[in-house]
Order: sequence, then C-alpha cells, then structure tokens
Amino acid sequence: MMTNVFNPIRFRRVFVLPLIVFLACFVIVLSWWTIQLQLNISEADLNRLGTITVENLSKSSVSLLTANDFESLKNVIALVKEKEADILTVEFLDLKGKKIIGDGDDIKLPLDPDRLKFMKATEIHKNRYFNLYLSPIFDKRAAVTGVSAILLSKDKLNTMNRKSKLLFVLIVFGVVSFNVFIYQYLVRESLRAYQLERAFNDLKNLQDRILQQEKMAAIGRLASGVGHELRNPLGAIKNAVYYIRDAIPASNLLEKDPTVSEFLEMIETEIKNSTEIISDLLDFSKVGKLHPQLIDLGGLLWEAKAIVDVPDGIEIRESFSKDIAPVQADPVRLRQVFLNLIVNAIQAMPKGGTLYISTEKVSRNGRNEIQITFKDTGTGISPENMKKIFEPLFTTKDRGTGLGLAICQGIVSAHGGKIEVRSEPGNGSEFVIRLFPPELRA
Ligand SMILES: Nc1ncnc2c1ncn2[C@@H]1O[C@H](COP(=O)(O)OP(=O)(O)O)[C@@H](O)[C@H]1O
Ligand SMILES: [Mg+2]
Repeated sequence: MMTNVFNPIRFRRVFVLPLIVFLACFVIVLSWWTIQLQLNISEADLNRLGTITVENLSKSSVSLLTANDFESLKNVIALVKEKEADILTVEFLDLKGKKIIGDGDDIKLPLDPDRLKFMKATEIHKNRYFNLYLSPIFDKRAAVTGVSAILLSKDKLNTMNRKSKLLFVLIVFGVVSFNVFIYQYLVRESLRAYQLERAFNDLKNLQDRILQQEKMAAIGRLASGVGHELRNPLGAIKNAVYYIRDAIPASNLLEKDPTVSEFLEMIETEIKNSTEIISDLLDFSKVGKLHPQLIDLGGLLWEAKAIVDVPDGIEIRESFSKDIAPVQADPVRLRQVFLNLIVNAIQAMPKGGTLYISTEKVSRNGRNEIQITFKDTGTGISPENMKKIFEPLFTTKDRGTGLGLAICQGIVSAHGGKIEVRSEPGNGSEFVIRLFPPELRA
C-alpha cells in the first residue's frame, strides 16, 4: 500500500490550475472594469464642459439677443470657440429651430420647434462623433425666446475608446498566453514527475524481486541441504523403531512396562511429522522445475483432497466448472499447491467449519483465465500478517515451517499464474489461484 501524504501532481491539478485560471479571469475582469470606468469619467467631463458652456451662453446672451446686437453676439461666439478646441459649432436658434447667428457647421439634428418652445433645462443629444447641447434662453417674463446650441467633438473620446479596446485586447492576450505557458509548464513538470515516480517504482519493484529471488535461492539451498542430511538419520530411526516393534512380542517388556508402547507410538508420530517437514524443505528447493502435461484440474483437486485427513467438524464443499478444458501443468507440483492450501484451511478452523473449493473460467480485462478458489470459515489473517504470509519461514503455528505458501507461490508463478488472498480476521480467508493457460487466450 502506498501512503500518499502529498501528491504534487494532484495538488497542481486540483489546486494550482483552477487558481491560475481564476487569477486570469480576475485580471481580465478588473482591467475591463477599470477601462470602462475611465471612459465613463471622460464622457462625464465632456458633458460637464458642454452643459456649463451652453448654459453660460444662454445667460450672457439674453440682453444681446433682445437688442439684436449681432456684433457683440459674434464676439461672444468667437470667445467661446477660442476657449475650447473641441467645440465645433456655437449657434443661437429661434423657436422654430432656425439659426439666428452662429459659427461652425450647421446643426443638422432634427430640432422639433414645439419642444424647443417649452424647453426648461439643458438637453444633451448624443451622437457617435459629437454631442449636441441645447439650453433655453429665457426673457424677462421667464418665457423661452430662443435656444443656445453647442456641438462638441467626440474625437478625443473615440480615440481613447479605441486605445482602451486595444489595451484590453493586449491584456487579454498577455494573460491568456501567460496562462497557456504556465499550464504547459505545469503539464510538462507533472509528466516528468509522473515518469520519475514510475521509473522509481519500477526500479524498486525490480530490486524487491531480485532480493526475493536471492532470498528464495539461498533458503532453497539451505532447505535442500538440511532436508537431504536429515533424511538418512530419520530413515535409520524408522528402521530401528520397526525392529523394536518386531522384537517386543518375544520379550515380556510390555507386561513389565505398558508405557513403552505409548512411547513407540509417539516416536512414530514424530517421525511422520519430521518426514513432512523434510518433504516441505525438499519441495521448497525444487519449486521451479516443472514437468508439464495435460491435466484435468477437477481430478487433481479431488486427488489432493483424498490425501488429506479431514477432521470431524470440517466439511469440504466443491463446485467445479464443467467448461474447463484440460490445461498444461505439472500435476505433482500443482497437487502440492492444492494440498498446502487445503491443509492451511483445515488448520485455520480448529473448531470446525466449511472449506469451499471451486473452479471457474473467468474473463477479466478482456483476458480469459481459470480461477481456483479455496475459501474457509476459519480464523482469518490479520492485516499485518497479510504482508508476510508468502515469505519463506513465516509462520504463526507452533509446529509450522512457514514454507507452504512460499512453495505455493513459487509453483504458481512458475506456471505463469498468480495467487491472491482476501481475508477478514475472524470470518475466514479466501485464496484464489489465477492461471492463464495460453490455449484459453481469446
Ligand atoms: N487459510 C488460512 N487461514 C488463516 N491463516 C492462514 C491460512 N493460510 C495461511 N495462513 C497463515 O499464513 C502462515 C504461513 O502459512 P504457510 O506458508 O503455509 O506456513 P505454515 O502453514 O507452516 O505456518 C500461517 O502460519 C498462517 O498464519
Ligand atoms: Mg502451511
């Protein structure tokens, strides 16, 4: 199990990427907002200039208009135009909208005479290129006698507007390219980190495998040596016991001491136990050598089961799939695997229970495989032992060798298969052998 305290790739994807996208949007919205604000202020400045000028014009020209003093009016107009370069036109209009006197381009906007007559305050008429400002001229009785008008150029405002839009496009372009750059950089970095992590894991796996193989080989040599060395003395002991059993009836030893028979039985049981340990040791050293032939898995399972002494209180239930054709495998080795798993299951159920053995043809990830399952209702395996059960010499039993599962794993992987374990402490364990015979390949 890999404990992931901090995963930089995930961190970037989940946290950094949304953050830079958010910052980019923020910068874009902020600059758009600033530009709009600036344009609004400039437009307001223009309007202030227009309204103030036209209102002053109305106030200062009342007496001149009533006196028909056109000379002075001309001077006033010249003065106003001189003051502000953006003023295109200054005019006085009568109530029908006709020009009385003025300077600059004629005002072409449709001026409704009825409305002019009842004008009470300054009006602004907006156009794309200029704004028109109209202000009523009141006589002494507060009646409208005419209208002052000013046309103000919007050239400056338009230029500013164009420049702002260009600026905005540049900002968006800059922010987007920066983001794309950062994004690419992050993707590249993540990819590199990912590749590095994978290479590291591969290397570690390889190292673990080599270490495991070396360990297995060393233990194998030791097991083979010890096994062979013990086989001869044990054989001699066995022969001696055989001889004593033969000799006892002739003597009256049994009448003198009846416990002798019990001791003999004990010696025989221990010889049997030792023989099993020795065969475990020898099996372990021979794990890799296979003599494959076409075999029927169901038949082989049945044979393995027949060898085992099944204690009272333990039931074995079988369910073998009918559509599994014979496979190429080493029957002796594979039977050894089944035997070890059955014995382990029985040993895990000291108070009795059920062992389910089943075979099944399964299609997983588009690949056909055979699964042989041994499911018991025994003690189960604790999570910390789970990591160690396949290690040679690991055992939780008083008289265990800890070689059974290591042998199983060696044999199954020599067949190109895998062993998987699932276990719930207290509820039992399930060992699944997965075989991938080439003839099953779809
Ligand atoms: N079916 C099972 N149920 C519970 N524990 C198991 C089972 N099979 C194996 N184990 C655990 O795995 C250990 C190693 O098994 P194995 O390699 O066969 O050695 P041994 O049987 O000599 O102890 C056992 O000691 C036991 O703790
Ligand atoms: Mg065992």
